[in-house]
Amino acid sequence: MIQTRLRLLSREETEAISLVAARMRLTLMEVVGEEEGAAMYSLEWLVDRVHFHLDPARSTGVVFVVENDTSAILGHTIVRVEPEGTGGRVGLFSTTYVDPAARRLGIADQLLEAGEQWIRAQGLAAAITHTTAKNEKLIRLYQKHGYRIVEEAPPFVRLWRPLTPTTPPTSPHCSPPS
Ligand SMILES: CC(C)(COP(=O)(O)OP(=O)(O)OC[C@H]1O[C@@H](n2cnc3c(N)ncnc32)[C@H](O)[C@@H]1OP(=O)(O)O)[C@@H](O)C(=O)NCCC(=O)NCCS
Repeated sequence: MIQTRLRLLSREETEAISLVAARMRLTLMEVVGEEEGAAMYSLEWLVDRVHFHLDPARSTGVVFVVENDTSAILGHTIVRVEPEGTGGRVGLFSTTYVDPAARRLGIADQLLEAGEQWIRAQGLAAAITHTTAKNEKLIRLYQKHGYRIVEEAPPFVRLWRPLTPTTPPTSPHCSPPS
């Protein structure tokens, strides 16, 4: 078993932010296909997207990373508060990636649990994520943690789970989005 440490990324960590952005591109390449995934966003846009989640003036979000004992980042997840069409707000897992060499070691489990704890602390009563219907690994991961598919919009699916907020709820919304 390898030693790992979970922590929040800060806005000053330029190199780590670039690494997370590059892995966002790898995620797209793995999920939608190499050519399409690589062409979807410029690296500059992806770096800005990480900054978007770390800048309280632009969003309420966080980036969790799991590192090994030499501080190499093995995996990350990006979570933010997201408005819902129904007028409420939920916690959205925007993206998650674990380095292929570090998979099946429980790192995504750790990231998901940390993200949910943060979502609860925002006073939110539900967490969601989106992926493609073919992304069996990610769907299994979320189903293991109690999520269910509440919407199918081919090729995408939406996974949802109710949570118990640890601070007073910011909205009464806790029913599955239609
Ligand atoms: C999906 C992903 C994040 C899983 O990361 P991981 O650290 O290997 O996952 P864990 O070891 O924490 O596994 C947790 C659970 O996820 C599921 N899972 C993970 N990998 C799986 C696989 N290859 N096949 C089936 N289930 C899998 C299982 O339920 C597993 O629990 P178990 O080990 O008790 O069976 C990783 O494979 C990845 O980065 N994939 C590419 C990026 C991606 O698809 N991101 C989402 C974009 S929307």
